[in-house]
Amino acid sequence: MRHLFETSEINDLKLKNRIIRSATWTGMADETGKCTQKLIQYYESLAQGGAGLIVTGHTYVMKSGQAGPRQLGVEGEEAIPMLRALTKAVHRNGGKIIMQLSHAGMYADPQLTGLDAKAVSASKRYTTYRLKELTFECIEEIVQAFAAGALHANAAGFDGVQIHAGHGYLLSQFLSPAYNVRTDGYGGVLGNRAKPLLEIVRRIRKAIGRHYPLLVKLNCQDFLEGGLAVEESLKVGVLLEAEGVDAIEVSGGTRESGRFKSTRTDILCEKDEGYFEFFARRFKQHLKIPIALVGGIRRYETAVRLMQTGAADYIAMSRPFIKEPGFVKRWQSGNTAMVGCVSDNECLSAGLRGTGIVCSR
Ligand SMILES: Cc1cc2nc3c(=O)[nH]c(=O)nc-3n(C[C@H](O)[C@H](O)[C@H](O)COP(=O)(O)O)c2cc1C
Repeated sequence: MRHLFETSEINDLKLKNRIIRSATWTGMADETGKCTQKLIQYYESLAQGGAGLIVTGHTYVMKSGQAGPRQLGVEGEEAIPMLRALTKAVHRNGGKIIMQLSHAGMYADPQLTGLDAKAVSASKRYTTYRLKELTFECIEEIVQAFAAGALHANAAGFDGVQIHAGHGYLLSQFLSPAYNVRTDGYGGVLGNRAKPLLEIVRRIRKAIGRHYPLLVKLNCQDFLEGGLAVEESLKVGVLLEAEGVDAIEVSGGTRESGRFKSTRTDILCEKDEGYFEFFARRFKQHLKIPIALVGGIRRYETAVRLMQTGAADYIAMSRPFIKEPGFVKRWQSGNTAMVGCVSDNECLSAGLRGTGIVCSR
């Protein structure tokens, strides 16, 4: 039986408890994607707050993949010194941190990137922006950029990386038949749609070796008509495990999924919590590698139940850490009151206003 406050290992990474701060964009990098003192202080406070593992916000591996303002980037070696200062600050405070590597694909913001959004398919179904369908050369460039991003993260002292393959970002778009209507070797059967993700895993392994913790955040379902469904996401999980991925964080939904998006609102009572629990359990049944469950977990009692009943190996949370970065330490000290996060996503709006994410409640 798993316990929240026991130690564990993911590959070579030793964790002091089973609570993960799930990837959360902060809007605190500078306008060119570089790490700032403000961002370092933010992660420092998270490390002091006792999370077993911190996953950075989605970090674009190349400019064409930038989704939001003041998003962190990991392109170019010049990014490394400030990122090293960030990892040092986290480690000094007893934390562990991995970088989430991402490309937003058609959800990149052309006003920020100055480029046409790169789409798996140039279908206008989900956007009004002009889209450029990815050529084979562009796909190869992106694969290389993920591997380079992982190398930079490693050089900057990150304890591992997580590939963002959920929420309708580029790798999730490839996997999803709702976004991917290609008729070449990257479309159609699941093996084709999963190619870029699997190739990125192989390249990262080749570049850094098999002991570097490598995680993937994956949609269990897109909750879209014709989108990725759980029967297929489980198969992707099996393929990722076979390629040596160390753990999978199970999430779901895209920007188009309405009330079934990844950041659901209306978490009013216990039964609304852990909204991907059913799917995480299926991943647990199919895979041997550790599974993290994210989405709407709010109460200590819920986290304990999910651990004890084997729904997942790790509990991942995002919005509660915005409200109260130190709640893990508080829970561990015996004060297990619920974090006052009301899941209204106002934190996101605050970030978009340019001041960085904050809970105004
Ligand atoms: C402000 C904000 C920023 C987020 N940024 C990311 C991100 O960069 N990468 C990611 O995978 N998910 C991101 N998410 C989604 C969370 O990681 C998480 O999957 C979701 O919020 C559900 O968990 P929660 O109910 O504990 O907040 C973000 C969520 C919020 C509220």
